[in-house]
Amino acid sequence: MIRLTPAPKRGLHGQLTVPGDKSISHRALMFGAIAQGVTEIENFLDSDDVLHTMGVFRALGVQIEQNGTRVRIQGQGLDHFQAPKAPLDMGNSGTSTRLLMGLLSQQPFDMTIFGDGSLSQRPMQRVLAPLAQMGAQITLTDGDKLPGVIHANHTLTGITYEMPVASAQVKSALILAGMQATGQTKIIEKLPSRDHTERMLRQFGGDIQSENGVITVSRQPALVGQHVVVPADISSAAFFMVAALMTPNSELTLKNVGINPTRDGVLRLLRRMGADLQLSNIDDTNEPTADITVRTQPLHGIHITAADIPSAVDEIPILALAATQAQGDTVISGAAELRVKETDRIATLVRELTKLGADIEALPDGMIIHGGTPLHGSTDSTLLETHGDHRIGMMNAVAALIAHQEVVMTGEDAMSVSYPGFLADLMQVMR
Ligand code: S3P
Repeated sequence: MIRLTPAPKRGLHGQLTVPGDKSISHRALMFGAIAQGVTEIENFLDSDDVLHTMGVFRALGVQIEQNGTRVRIQGQGLDHFQAPKAPLDMGNSGTSTRLLMGLLSQQPFDMTIFGDGSLSQRPMQRVLAPLAQMGAQITLTDGDKLPGVIHANHTLTGITYEMPVASAQVKSALILAGMQATGQTKIIEKLPSRDHTERMLRQFGGDIQSENGVITVSRQPALVGQHVVVPADISSAAFFMVAALMTPNSELTLKNVGINPTRDGVLRLLRRMGADLQLSNIDDTNEPTADITVRTQPLHGIHITAADIPSAVDEIPILALAATQAQGDTVISGAAELRVKETDRIATLVRELTKLGADIEALPDGMIIHGGTPLHGSTDSTLLETHGDHRIGMMNAVAALIAHQEVVMTGEDAMSVSYPGFLADLMQVMR
């Protein structure tokens, strides 16, 4: 349990480099493990989720050295993994599970996979069904849940698949399987999801086409180990952006943040709410980055619809908090995917923010937030909880900055899934 105090009157100040991007760190490990030769990763996210992906590759016999945020992988290609001696632990990580189901779907041995309580509730059929069409042999509990077994297999064949939901995890699983299959794999996306897998495959010397919502990939020649520099995670930076916007007298600069256009929806949505975000030092490399300066500003309510969701899916909890302080109503629709994240985020964020006095109604696929409500503290009877969800925990901690009394929260360990040093960094900008 932790006690969180309101922000000081002088506001939040300084420069901060939040940790490396979670999605890109997972992928750097995966491509490093299947490429030939050494891959070095810089600014790697040293957090629970990504360490589960690392643990899987070590269990498969890949040599990986880690020194804080630097990682060195001795890649040997896809054909040299060793059968693991124990079941593979995915922890809380949907990205590890779904991407690895694709990547490991053509190995000569069986692998049992399992995860924690939250991950064991999350739907896997969305990956299993198209992978089964490709010839993968994966069995899951009740056909949809962990634990499960990825069976030995050598028969992957390309398919054409129209994605029923916008999901980078599903798309990436199919790309990673398509890279090993005979024939072409075509994935049709109605709305673009984050394209880190496509960008990284190209960086490692692979070939993948992406045009008008159709992604085409075939069996790849040997990939070559790379030096990967991971940008700071925009999903982590978003908590500080909203913190600075809402906390009087603040000015924060977030350094080196990834602004890949398939991930930077939070910038567009905050701008639509009236935020003036200043981008500088823009570096237009494979994964573009910028420094983002944010000052305290009044915001107004907006409509967030299905087309806005994929590029900001992980930022909806913190945007919802911003909306409680905006003028007027914010309506979020087309966001049913939030119900199958680490928690049912529509339910958990409505529950937590309501405890602080916010005025929010849940909808089946979103919510209506009536803005302009002051937030009070939490008492023992309205103790805030993370519900084991890192992003709900960080949202609560940011809410505490503008609450009129002390906020008490339990389950803070959940934050280590993506940002183990979050509270320390928050304290740093409060000094
Ligand atoms: C991720 C994709 C998103 C996101 C998750 C990371 C990824 O999930 O919510 O935190 O790295 O591909 P979905 O693909 O389920 O939308």
